[in-house]
Amino acid sequence: MKAKAAKIAEGVYWVGVLHWNSRTFHGYGIPGTTYNAYLVFGGEKTVLIDNVYGGLDNQLYARIEDAFAQEGKDIQIDVFVQNHSEMDHSTHLRETIEKYNPEAEIYASPNCAKFLEQQYHNFGDLKINTVQTGDEVDIGGRTLAFVSAPMLHWPDSMFTFLVEDGILFSNDAFGQHVCHSKRFDEDYSLDILEKEAQKYYANLVTLGSPMLRMKLQELTDNGIVDQIKMIAPCHGQIWKNPKFIIDLYAKWGSGVCKDKITVIYDTMHHSTEKLAFQIAEGIASEGVEVAMYFMQHDGPDDAITDILDSKAIALGAPTMMNKPFPRIGNMIYWLDCVNFAGTTSNKNALIFSSKGWGGGAVKKLQTDLEAAGFNVTDTLDVTFVPDEDVLEEAFNKGAELARSIKE
Ligand SMILES: Cc1cc2nc3c(=O)[nH]c(=O)nc-3n(C[C@H](O)[C@H](O)[C@H](O)COP(=O)(O)O)c2cc1C
Ligand SMILES: [Fe+2]
Ligand SMILES: [Fe+2]
Repeated sequence: MKAKAAKIAEGVYWVGVLHWNSRTFHGYGIPGTTYNAYLVFGGEKTVLIDNVYGGLDNQLYARIEDAFAQEGKDIQIDVFVQNHSEMDHSTHLRETIEKYNPEAEIYASPNCAKFLEQQYHNFGDLKINTVQTGDEVDIGGRTLAFVSAPMLHWPDSMFTFLVEDGILFSNDAFGQHVCHSKRFDEDYSLDILEKEAQKYYANLVTLGSPMLRMKLQELTDNGIVDQIKMIAPCHGQIWKNPKFIIDLYAKWGSGVCKDKITVIYDTMHHSTEKLAFQIAEGIASEGVEVAMYFMQHDGPDDAITDILDSKAIALGAPTMMNKPFPRIGNMIYWLDCVNFAGTTSNKNALIFSSKGWGGGAVKKLQTDLEAAGFNVTDTLDVTFVPDEDVLEEAFNKGAELARSIKE
């Protein structure tokens, strides 16, 4: 195929893949995405940073060849840097090395080298130079400085800083799942980009929030934050305004929330739904924003996005066979997985439910939400279809939850 490389700075090219028709990424809904790889021309060595997902290598090769043509140079890659081993950034690494230079130098974190072998079982014969924070490689007038970034978002994650140009190749951190024909933040709606970056953070980075806070502090203390002119992640748009996304990460990673409550529910015959709507009315009556999710149709990934900057949640499901209606279980597992408590936000929760007789949903949901780090402040357990008195009680509990986050 034919595809152009995008020049993002003097001698630095985006050579990644546009995956226009991708709609899910490990269980997370997306409007397409990109797998960003970058080619950097040093005075002596040419470097490929990261790789792409399976089956999309023709796009990568076409862009690499175009970048060499734009530079007027014969094709030879001298250095491969792999910031992270997950398959969306590594599937064709071995092939790319073989295609362009089997003798090239390869750099990765120790965990990345190990994980590559454990995933592909054919890296054993390649010499991977393992690097960590403080290690540098001179490519001729330009320096690659490596920054270990464990748990942002895997134990093997690493950033590569192109020192003289101030470009941080951050791999998954600071990414967004969007697919656009142009490469920069300024080429896209900033509101949509912020929302997609929030979805990405909420679902993929929240668990690493304690590490993120440490990393941002370290990068601030050693002066790197001030030197960053551009952040080039592995998914989505490149940040020409790095401060915008760094400030958002600092906020999300330290539990800064809005006066907002996310209501999540499921229902069989709409009684629990009636409670959800009344709770939302009560919350809104206090001037607090509501985000509403019905798990029959909505994805937990979108709910997780709103919960990230909500000070509280209200979660409801009816009883089925003495337990919560099981479709809510997916949401509970997601909440347990991402662990919002790690952001230091202490989120209150109201649990609500309709039952027919003995119930059981509320008790189980309370145990599960507490295990997921929520502070369950109130419950509402009603029998069959709520009457006007019960609807008023639901309204009042919503209002009370809203007041609790304003204290
Ligand atoms: C398949 C099924 C199983 C149920 N099992 C229980 C149960 O074990 N205990 C209980 O209290 N109610 C049970 N119920 C009654 C529901 O909890 C009750 O109809 C409730 O009002 C449904 O709320 P919803 O309208 O929000 O779906 C069951 C209902 C269905 C349809
Ligand atoms: Fe990843
Ligand atoms: Fe990724």
